[in-house]
Amino acid sequence: MTGSEKLRRLHPEDITAAAQLSAQAGWNQTEDDWRTLLELSPEGCLAIEVDGVLAATTTLLCYGRRLAWIGMVLTKAEYQRRGFARKLLAHALENADKMGIATTKLDATDQGQPIYESLGFRSEQEIERWSRPSGNAQLPATLTSEEEPWRDLDSLVFGTDRSQLLERLARLNPPTSSSESYLFTRPGRVTAYLGPCVSNDPRQARRLIEDSVLNSQCVWSWDLFTRNHEAVALARDLGFSPKRHLVRMARGKELREKENAIYAIAGFELG
Ligand SMILES: CC(C)(COP(=O)(O)OP(=O)(O)OC[C@H]1O[C@@H](n2cnc3c(N)ncnc32)[C@H](O)[C@@H]1OP(=O)(O)O)[C@@H](O)C(=O)NCCC(=O)NCCS
Repeated sequence: MTGSEKLRRLHPEDITAAAQLSAQAGWNQTEDDWRTLLELSPEGCLAIEVDGVLAATTTLLCYGRRLAWIGMVLTKAEYQRRGFARKLLAHALENADKMGIATTKLDATDQGQPIYESLGFRSEQEIERWSRPSGNAQLPATLTSEEEPWRDLDSLVFGTDRSQLLERLARLNPPTSSSESYLFTRPGRVTAYLGPCVSNDPRQARRLIEDSVLNSQCVWSWDLFTRNHEAVALARDLGFSPKRHLVRMARGKELREKENAIYAIAGFELG
C-alpha cells in the first residue's frame, strides 16, 4: 500500500460517501442500512481511504462466535484492480479468525466470486434478487403485534442468534407476524425491500407477504433461495421476476440455514 492509502475503520462520518459507493454499484442500500452495520459492528466495518477519498469498503458482522457475515465489498470504479478488495477481505478474515469465528459467509456477485474462491470460500446455494416492477417506493403502513415470534423462531431457522440485528430492524420498521412466521420490510434506495421473512408454515408466509405486497403500491425487491420452491412460487404469483443471480458462499465449519423456512433473506450484506 502506498503512503496515501490507508486501511482503517469506517466511521459514522463516512456514511454519505459509503452510500454513494453502494449507489454507484447500482445497489439498493440506504444510509440507514450502512448505519445498521456501523451500529452493530463498529469494529468490523473497514475502509481504504486514498488521499481523503473513500475508495473501498468491506463489513464483517458477527452473530456470536458461530457465524460472521461479510458484506459491502465495494471498490470505487477508478480504484479497482489495485488489490483493495483483497486487502480488506484478508483483514476482515484475519479479525474473524482472531475472534474464533467458526463460519464466515457472504452472498457473492459474479464479480466478487473469484476473489472469495481464492480466499477459501465454497459455494453453498443459489440466491436470487426478484423484483416487482409496478408502483412507487412508498412503504405500506404495517399493522404491528405485541408478539415477537422472531426471537425464538429466527435462531432455529437461521442457525445462530441474530436478535440484535432484528431488534434494530424492528425499531426502524416494525415487522408483521403470526404464531409461526414473521416478515420485515424496509425502505431501499431504489425499491422497498422485503425481508427477512421466516416461516414454518407456508400458508402463514403467503398471508404475511401477500398482505404487505398487495396492500401497497411499492416497487419491491426480494432476495430468496431458489431451493425454496414455495417462496419462488409465491413470488411468481405476486408478479415478481428474477433480476440478479448470486451465490451464497461459506468458509470454515459447515453451518446450514433451513432454507425451506426462509422466505426472504435479511439482505446480501446481512445474511
Ligand atoms: C468486486 C470488486 C469489489 C473487486 O474490487 P477490487 O478492489 O477491484 O478487487 P482486487 O483488486 O482486490 O482484485 C482481487 C482479485 O479479484 C479478481 N477480480 C477483481 N475484479 C474482477 C472482475 N471485475 N472480474 C473478474 N475478477 C475480478 C481478480 O482475480 C483479482 O485478482 P488479480 O490480482 O489477479 O487481478 C469491485 O469490482 C466492485 O466493487 N464491484 C462492484 C460491486 C461488487 O460486485 N462487489 C462484490 C460483492 S459480493
